Amino acid sequence: DPPNLHMDNTASVSRLNCRAKGAAAGFRVAILGAAGGIGQPLAMLMKMNPLVSVLHLYDVVNTPGVTSDISHMDTGAVVRGFLGQQQLEEALTGVDFVIIPAGVPRKPGMTRDDLFNINAGIVRTLSEAIAKCCPNAIVNVISNPVNSTVPIAAEVFKKAGTFDPKKLLGVTMLDVVRANTFVAEVLGLDPRDVNVPVVGGHAGVTILPLLSQVKPPCSFTPKEVDYLTHRIQNGGTEVVEAKAGAGSATLSMAYAAVKFADACLRGLRGDASVVECAFVASQVTELPFFASKVRLGRIGVEEIYPLGPLNEYERAGLEKAKKELESSIQKGVSFVRK
Ligand code: NAI
Repeated sequence: DPPNLHMDNTASVSRLNCRAKGAAAGFRVAILGAAGGIGQPLAMLMKMNPLVSVLHLYDVVNTPGVTSDISHMDTGAVVRGFLGQQQLEEALTGVDFVIIPAGVPRKPGMTRDDLFNINAGIVRTLSEAIAKCCPNAIVNVISNPVNSTVPIAAEVFKKAGTFDPKKLLGVTMLDVVRANTFVAEVLGLDPRDVNVPVVGGHAGVTILPLLSQVKPPCSFTPKEVDYLTHRIQNGGTEVVEAKAGAGSATLSMAYAAVKFADACLRGLRGDASVVECAFVASQVTELPFFASKVRLGRIGVEEIYPLGPLNEYERAGLEKAKKELESSIQKGVSFVRK
């Protein structure tokens, strides 16, 4: 026999115990839309995350293949696949954390709002199942338009009586990731050393990088501010055009989603001072939802930070952002209430 089959009982029991201990230390995570362009690399990266003990992969197509493939990775998380609406509830039962990248992406010439008609219904259906099967889970919404899909999920949860504003987060991390990269390029720094707060929302002018608050402290010429703001706001469109009809950002998005999910999970574990930007129910402005820096903890969003001092350029940007955000939020709310 090959040597690894010569396990005596004690050894195998202790191995099982070790495995169980490892599993107990982690969180149970579901990805809805796991077979898609974002879903697949996201599933792969979550399988590599030591904070994940169980990974549920749900989609309406192709999950058996994706699950089989990912389950061969020799990392700790146990992977299970769920296919089609009739397995949605099973996919969600008992999970602590849900990530939603389900829905159609943009093609050249489309805005994120053009996706509303299809994705609004998808997010509503998935949110109804979350309210029923894992009402206490932390939910990360990636599906666009985030400025409307987060309000949709909130309305569904309110209807079901399960809404906890601390547990629903729209993922705007890709805007921060892009901002860090582009700012680092201009400053000639390593992007790992740069932190750019990006507030507002996740579409066009609602994406508001606060270049006056970049860490490490630095200054930009007016030309650099214009270039950076525009490039950060249009980073998604840059990728959509380069992919020329084959979809939108998937790999950088999966990276950003995992960076954000990992922050949420570290918060859940009880780590101190976990701070990231996210689109959440908020009183930072007069709007009911807004993206800003939040502190993540054991119950989700534990603290929402004010925007801090803005310069004139940023104040003008904020007014524009709020105008568009207000109607996107209203559109989401009306979709569920109507
Ligand atoms: P994709 O089309 O490659 O994948 C979407 C997946 O969702 C497909 O596998 C599809 O079968 C699945 N799906 C469709 N209806 C479903 C349902 N009812 N339940 C479960 N799964 C369902 O699209 P991709 O590129 O992965 O993008 C997904 C979403 O993420 C899009 O809405 C896109 O706009 C958004 N996105 C968000 C970003 C952000 O920063 N928040 C950045 C990039 C994309």
